[in-house]
Amino acid sequence: MSDVIAPREEFAAAALTRADDYARLYQESTQDPDAFWGRVAGRLDWNRAPTRIKDVSYDLADFHIRWYADGELNAAVNCVDRHLATRGDKVALIWEPDDPKQQARRITYRELHAEVCRLANALENLGVVKGDRVTLYLPMIPEAAYAMLACARIGAIHSVVFGGFSPDSIAGRIADCGSKLVITADEGLRGGKPIALKKNVDEALKKPGTQSVETVLVVRRTGATVDMQMPRDRWYDAVVEGQPATHQAQPMNAEDPLFILYTSGSTGKPKGVLHTTGGYLVYASYTHEQVFDLKDDDVYWCTADVGWVTGHSYLVYGPLANGATSLMFEGVPNYPDVSRFWEVIDKHQVTLFYTAPTAIRALMREGEAPVKKASRASLRVLGSVGEPINPEAWRWYYDVVGDGRCPVVDTWWQTETGGILITPLPGATDLKPGSATLPFFGIQPALVDANGQELEGAAEGNLVIKDSWPGQMRTVYGDDQRFIDTYFKTYPGRYFTGDGCRRDADGYYWITGRVDDVINVSGHRIGTAEVESALVAHPKVAEAAVVGFPHDIKGQGIYAYVTLNAGEQPDDDLRKELVAWVRKEIGPIASPDHLQWAPGLPKTRSGKIMRRILRKIAENQPDQLGDTSTLADPSVVQALLDERKVK
Ligand code: PRX
Repeated sequence: MSDVIAPREEFAAAALTRADDYARLYQESTQDPDAFWGRVAGRLDWNRAPTRIKDVSYDLADFHIRWYADGELNAAVNCVDRHLATRGDKVALIWEPDDPKQQARRITYRELHAEVCRLANALENLGVVKGDRVTLYLPMIPEAAYAMLACARIGAIHSVVFGGFSPDSIAGRIADCGSKLVITADEGLRGGKPIALKKNVDEALKKPGTQSVETVLVVRRTGATVDMQMPRDRWYDAVVEGQPATHQAQPMNAEDPLFILYTSGSTGKPKGVLHTTGGYLVYASYTHEQVFDLKDDDVYWCTADVGWVTGHSYLVYGPLANGATSLMFEGVPNYPDVSRFWEVIDKHQVTLFYTAPTAIRALMREGEAPVKKASRASLRVLGSVGEPINPEAWRWYYDVVGDGRCPVVDTWWQTETGGILITPLPGATDLKPGSATLPFFGIQPALVDANGQELEGAAEGNLVIKDSWPGQMRTVYGDDQRFIDTYFKTYPGRYFTGDGCRRDADGYYWITGRVDDVINVSGHRIGTAEVESALVAHPKVAEAAVVGFPHDIKGQGIYAYVTLNAGEQPDDDLRKELVAWVRKEIGPIASPDHLQWAPGLPKTRSGKIMRRILRKIAENQPDQLGDTSTLADPSVVQALLDERKVK
């Protein structure tokens, strides 16, 4: 039995959306999408208002996805210019630097407008025109937002590459979309450590396929000496200086591309997920407002890096389209110490906070004291995104971080979906710790079995979405066929998410993790997330990662990597105890066949556990680990291999 947390009366009374609104609007949104999404589109400023709303067919013979196809607008104008009349002096961006001793910055909408216009003019002077691709490889500094918006303003398509990616990855992404210009910084700064961004770009541009790049703009962040290759490399401040602070924005068709964002699939090279202008912006702004119950005086903080889709939709485009104050944090949760998040919340009086379960679990491991040091009284809503949040972390987030006052919105979505698809609406939705709860307006999730048969009622299966929504990706850049093959062939007529999911008797959705991470033990499918959730529910466990490995008798067995809380002793008794614990929590089929102590787990710099590596270690194929260069700390791999040998 899971517990249910109803919205507090006081919160619900003031919320944008109440429970009966949700039922009514959900019904309308799915029964008459044209009327619903036509109305919602009115939240944006259009040069030409759309009269065609939804024009979609998932039928492979006539496949197309178009929203607002005869509408015209500019995304940057919607995120900046239109706020000037009423909110020119409102803070658009708060920038909190890596080092808390350095001055934070508050950039008003008027200042943001000037910055974006100057850069837009500079880009045009450098020959960038509508439809050109621009790669951004930047730290979490305001220039990242200026650059995205300046591209949008002139109709160039930005491709943000996360600052933690290697030169090879940058090169691959530049080559795939043929970028004309790259914007980077001398160095990034995270947790007090410099990151050699410009140097990585230099290395990337030596690689084949990158000749399309004519210009590299370099923002001065740390002032480090970097190689400037003239005439290719230009200082950002020098090209922007003296540019007019006004600019005539390029009118864009709603279906003109806004950005490309590369994301890894289970196979092949990363896919360039393409989002277009009108539908994406309508969806990002509307979900941002509704899911966070956004009010005009909120201070909103999304901790995601701009290199990920969350940083696109819920740090830049959604909040700014809504005229909100959005906080951009350059640093990490544990620098200079593990109270940093909570101190930043107090410092800037953050009301809406959006972060990832991995961060929550890491901070939970440190105990309550670092949280309690800060007041956090400004907080109103807490959000979670990126992976399933185990009920224990959910409860800690709710009870300790939010003092039992703030609804937790567990938002399920993907790079491909552009915005949140399954989520509570605070004030409207009863919460269940660990469940992303119910579909957002217009979203029709369904569960299917391996044959594509739709499952009714309480069930578990593969999660598909039966119809389109405005924020849906339109294609894989340069590869329409791969788009269709990846997402629409497995279950014809439906969008396949790649996720497994359970629906309970109340119609609540519980994402169990990627289907490619599901383990099949003696014909029973077990979500790795389920086993991990059980393990971390043990008071001595800080974090766990579970993968499948080939098993002679069962087909697949369960291999668990466990990180203990600081001060706990790993020994055989505890190992047995944990296996028994999982048996007890889930059932005998879920008990781990192997349980290995892991002083650390291999994570990308964005905090995602790299299961591919864990699977190879579990399979005892250390020579097939593949690329480990994107790991935050590559040495954890050796430690795991050593531990495996000892066993
Ligand atoms: O497996 C789901 C998981 O993250 C995947 C999407 O990853 P990405 O494209 O990198 O986007 C992350 C940010 C939206 C999904 O297929 N995922 C994301 N949010 C949740 C989640 N799993 C469970 N619960 C969530 N709230």
